[in-house]
Amino acid sequence: MYEFYPLLVVGGVIGLMSAIFIFAFCTIKDRKEAIGFDRNMKDSELIKRLFVYAKPHAKSFVAVFLIMLFSISYDIISPTLVGNIEEKIKGDFVPSELISYVIIYAGILIVSLICTYLQAIILQKTGQKILSALREDLFIHIESLSHGQLTSMPVGKLVTRVTNDTNAISMLFTNILVNLLKNVFVIFGVIGAMLMLNYGLTLMVLCFAPFIALFTVIFRKFSRKAYREVKDGTTDINTFLSENLSGMKIIQIFNREDRKMAEFNAKNNKLKSAKHRQIFVFGIFRPMVYMLYITSVLCLLYLGGRGYIKNIEFMGQTISSGVLVSFYMYITKFFNPIQSLAEQFNWLQSAFASAEKIFTVMDIKPEIVDADDAIELESVEGNIEFRNVWFAYEGEEWVLKDVSFKVKAGETVAFCGSTGSGKTTILSLICRNYDIQRGEILIDGIDIRKIKISSLRKHFGQMLQDVFLFSGTIRSNILLRKENVCDDEVNEACRYVNADKLIEKLPKGLDEEVMERGANFSAGQRQLISFARTIIHKPEIMILDEATANIDTETEILIQDSLEKLMNIGTLLIVAHRLSTIRNADRIIYLSHGEIIESGSHQELIEKQGRYYELYKLQQDKALLKNS
Ligand SMILES: Nc1ncnc2c1ncn2[C@@H]1O[C@H](COP(=O)(O)OP(=O)(O)O)[C@@H](O)[C@H]1O
Ligand SMILES: [Mg+2]
Repeated sequence: MYEFYPLLVVGGVIGLMSAIFIFAFCTIKDRKEAIGFDRNMKDSELIKRLFVYAKPHAKSFVAVFLIMLFSISYDIISPTLVGNIEEKIKGDFVPSELISYVIIYAGILIVSLICTYLQAIILQKTGQKILSALREDLFIHIESLSHGQLTSMPVGKLVTRVTNDTNAISMLFTNILVNLLKNVFVIFGVIGAMLMLNYGLTLMVLCFAPFIALFTVIFRKFSRKAYREVKDGTTDINTFLSENLSGMKIIQIFNREDRKMAEFNAKNNKLKSAKHRQIFVFGIFRPMVYMLYITSVLCLLYLGGRGYIKNIEFMGQTISSGVLVSFYMYITKFFNPIQSLAEQFNWLQSAFASAEKIFTVMDIKPEIVDADDAIELESVEGNIEFRNVWFAYEGEEWVLKDVSFKVKAGETVAFCGSTGSGKTTILSLICRNYDIQRGEILIDGIDIRKIKISSLRKHFGQMLQDVFLFSGTIRSNILLRKENVCDDEVNEACRYVNADKLIEKLPKGLDEEVMERGANFSAGQRQLISFARTIIHKPEIMILDEATANIDTETEILIQDSLEKLMNIGTLLIVAHRLSTIRNADRIIYLSHGEIIESGSHQELIEKQGRYYELYKLQQDKALLKNS
């Protein structure tokens, strides 16, 4: 009885620890549900959807699996070899035998290293392919969302989906899955090898397995929560950054730096403490497993040592010093994969969490989709009709109320009215950026909901108030989706809309670099570039939301002149602020609070002496004042 005393103490300590951890485990379970961290998609569903991306690379994965079997040979065979070497050194020392063992050992090591290298290369390549396919799908999906849907989603969140979350999934394919498999194989391989050496000692090592399993399950509960918090914190910071970096100028102008800094600090601290908690959880888990490892080594030395000294035989196996050395190594090889298995389960969880977030975005049904019987619109004359159109961005807050008008092909129609009267809204409805609630919008007599969206938008040239230039060159911004256009054509288009003078002044001409959002150009210059961009695509219908702010007189004259040319190209719908533009339009529609209150030519409306006349007088007085 006295001989088992140390074992009883060890068992008691481990049992006590387990009890404490089980108690902690039960408390965290309740809290987890209260915070609502539970995912909605089942793991099986996620696996099924991820599998779709892995399937085209099945061959690579099979190859990796086979190579992996070789690469684990080192872990399984080397301890036995070392045990044998130990026996050889101790017994009759034959150098040639020893050398052959060393050569075998080195051979296995080299094969294993080469296999590990190959495996990593293949996996990385495959992982990157999967990753880029996933990113592409996600990006294409985001592109298909309507303006309304995009407005409701923070940009930072989308960026996190496309970058961080897809990365977590690539980890799944390049690292996690293979290592999970590898560790499982190593564990079983090591158990097999140990059994061949000694049943009794193997059983002793296996006695520790339930405790490791217990610690692992508990650890997973804690760490999963920590992971979620870190993830949410990261998304939060990304969202905050992408918004505030874009608006940094405003923040500086309004002296909001301190306030924003405080907001950022709060988010930053939240992420920091989430990370701390995560590190803490790992900090507890690793030493726990290490403690078990040390305990098992002590047990091995105690039991194995006794068995060796007393030469105890168990089911035909005795314990030699070589067996003890091998077992000492096997215990390390047994505990390592178990410990990393637990951590890999965590990575797996985090990859699944990312997968769910990505698939949630992918599952958002685009609001504006082609009808099943949508037609391709080959050519367009340019007749537009609004028939009793009612539209609201949200609920029943009507922005357009029963709006009806007709535009004949080739006509220029100007919309005017006070800010918020619905001018921009009308223009974006024609391109079907939003769907209307009641009424019809017809192009050449066809309801736009019956036309394929891509085919519809192909015939439009939109020049919006807030011209968006992408980072790149002037040329790439003018061409956008168009390819194979020679510089002469680009120059011609620029000349037509008076953008040539602007471009000539630039040191690199068409190759001049455009910074993000076109920050290195003025509003007027951006508008001119957008004119060139529009006419090079030769649209039948042009839509122009005139820029009002920040335009110097010189550019204004250029814009004015090119506007008159644009009127001759095709149908032109224009939100006009300048008198001269308005005057030249075929028809003027005056909007107020989403309703058409006056419509007619400049002359007609002046004679009517209504709201348009008032606006006209107001602007004329201002012009006189300016000139005097
Ligand atoms: N994306 C949007 N979501 C909700 N309401 C909007 C949106 N865009 C515009 N509105 C609202 O619709 C009304 C008309 O806006 P808009 O057509 O831009 O006016 P205008 O161009 O004549 O100044 C305004 O009251 C505005 O607040
Ligand atoms: Mg507007």
